[in-house]
Amino acid sequence: MDGNGRWALARRLPRIAGHRAGVESVRRVVKAAPGLTIDVLTLFAFSSDNWRRPRAEVEGLMELLGLYLATETEECVRNGVRLQVIGRRDRLAADVRAAIGRAETATAAGTRLRLRMAVDYSARDAILAAARGLAELSRESLDGALGPPVDLLIRTGGERRLSDFLLWECAYAELVFPRVMWPDFGAEDLASAVRDFRGRERRFGAVPEVPVRLHERWLR
Ligand code: IPE
Ligand code: MG
Repeated sequence: MDGNGRWALARRLPRIAGHRAGVESVRRVVKAAPGLTIDVLTLFAFSSDNWRRPRAEVEGLMELLGLYLATETEECVRNGVRLQVIGRRDRLAADVRAAIGRAETATAAGTRLRLRMAVDYSARDAILAAARGLAELSRESLDGALGPPVDLLIRTGGERRLSDFLLWECAYAELVFPRVMWPDFGAEDLASAVRDFRGRERRFGAVPEVPVRLHERWLR
């Protein structure tokens, strides 16, 4: 979810207005995801490096998170959305932590969509923490301790980097970089990213079983 600040800047609005508009995109995307055969959706809401932002912006983001959890929990329950928050909790304010706990408990039975919000999240820290908790360290045990492998990673806002997001899980992720700021991202953009994903040939390092699709323009 990148580009909220620039979206606001382009409209001569404060950055927080961009974050507020970004919450609307979250609502749209969460609503559209199950219909697009998405069963796990992880949103990067707040990176562990985002603590470096001005205090007022950090507070605004935390407030929006609390507000989202308070207002959307019911909707999630109605729509079978199970909400989970990944990332560190020990640095979050007690009220935010409590709101997360309430939302997770209330939505625990949801089976249509697993919505994971990454808050105070760093993939490197998550990998370290998971590894430290394992009696035996192997690829499989770490796979089990972290989240499911990512099929499709979408980054809005024009940057083309992973920025410490799901590094282990993205080993074979297909990357899509829509040319929109997050507040302008909607159901149609999500559908388009999924279409793009479906058109890709995923080989996971192997030779494909079906004949290779020739990319004519690459052959001379
Ligand atoms: C949203 O966009 C990211 C977060 C929710 C922290 P940004 O705040 O990074 O927006 P830009 O990149 O400044 O436009
Ligand atoms: Mg950004």
